[in-house]
Amino acid sequence: MKILLFGKNGQVGHELLRSLSPLGEIIALDRREADFENKDALRRTISTHAADVIVNAAAYTAVDQAESEEERAFLINAEAPAILADYARYNGSLLIHFSTDYVFDGTKPSPYIETDRPNPLNAYGRSKLAGEQAVQQGGCHHFIFRTSWVYGIHGHNFIKTIWKAGKERESLKVVADQVGTPTSAELIADVTALSIAAFYADLLPEGIHHLTASGTTSWYGLACYTLEKAHEKGISMKAGLNSITPIVTEEWPLPAARPRNSRLDNSALSERLGFFLPEWSFHVDRMIEQLVRSDAI
Ligand SMILES: NC(=O)c1ccc[n+]([C@@H]2O[C@H](COP(=O)([O-])OP(=O)(O)OC[C@H]3O[C@@H](n4cnc5c(N)ncnc54)[C@H](OP(=O)(O)O)[C@@H]3O)[C@@H](O)[C@H]2O)c1
Repeated sequence: MKILLFGKNGQVGHELLRSLSPLGEIIALDRREADFENKDALRRTISTHAADVIVNAAAYTAVDQAESEEERAFLINAEAPAILADYARYNGSLLIHFSTDYVFDGTKPSPYIETDRPNPLNAYGRSKLAGEQAVQQGGCHHFIFRTSWVYGIHGHNFIKTIWKAGKERESLKVVADQVGTPTSAELIADVTALSIAAFYADLLPEGIHHLTASGTTSWYGLACYTLEKAHEKGISMKAGLNSITPIVTEEWPLPAARPRNSRLDNSALSERLGFFLPEWSFHVDRMIEQLVRSDAI
């Protein structure tokens, strides 16, 4: 099997390079080798490699910046995936694409299921929703994995921000009224590899699936958990255990509005595949172990 991976240097792309390796030959490209803003070059690149599976981990992910760069976000998150989907249909390839909790407006009182109506609150969410639609309308074999609150040892993310802030500052303020599920890039990459295998065994229907860890917390809850673990591991922190103040979204104004409820119901995916998606803390603990080790170097 030949697998073409876009976005190999992103949080998820980095982990996919590992998890996809037992499935076949991987051609992994970064932005320099396949720029989603250059549509003609992208068409040439994709047909040169003629892969059986195309995995798109490239995306415009700067949520606040997208408010002032919506056209660019659409180019990368929707127009480029449309090209991938076109080619996948032509070549009979399977296309894997990733989307986000930010396609929803967060007003539902319970976790979102795959068939709930999207209603993005910000430009990034609109561009990602347009990407989902482009892949679906492309008519190719596809999986769209919606995920949320992604973190990994490779790349920038909230856990790393809190880790650094805790070392530098005595007190922190973190939003407590947005809830969701922190999901590790490792978990996303592992489930993606299993899903590709399941596709070829006719075990997983194509379409949109919610791929997150299990359980729920808030950004405040995740920040407290991170600091607690840092203290437990003996990491020297300026911020003490009770030094995080919970605040409401309005106290931390940002250019892009965020959904209050980012919870995605992952039960359909785990039931269909017959395996279990661990609680969010499982992979956060692994990430913290990695941060502790990198601190020790
Ligand atoms: N991060 C989250 O919290 C989150 C939440 C929900 C869903 N998702 C979705 O999950 C997927 C993976 O996210 P992630 O966290 O791994 O993102 P990430 O770490 O920001 O990685 C995105 C990758 O896309 C590449 N990229 C950006 N613009 C490009 C362009 N014009 N051409 C080619 N490549 C380009 C980046 O290249 P450089 O390395 O050169 O910048 C980067 O390697 C995305 O579809 C994202 O929308 C993410």
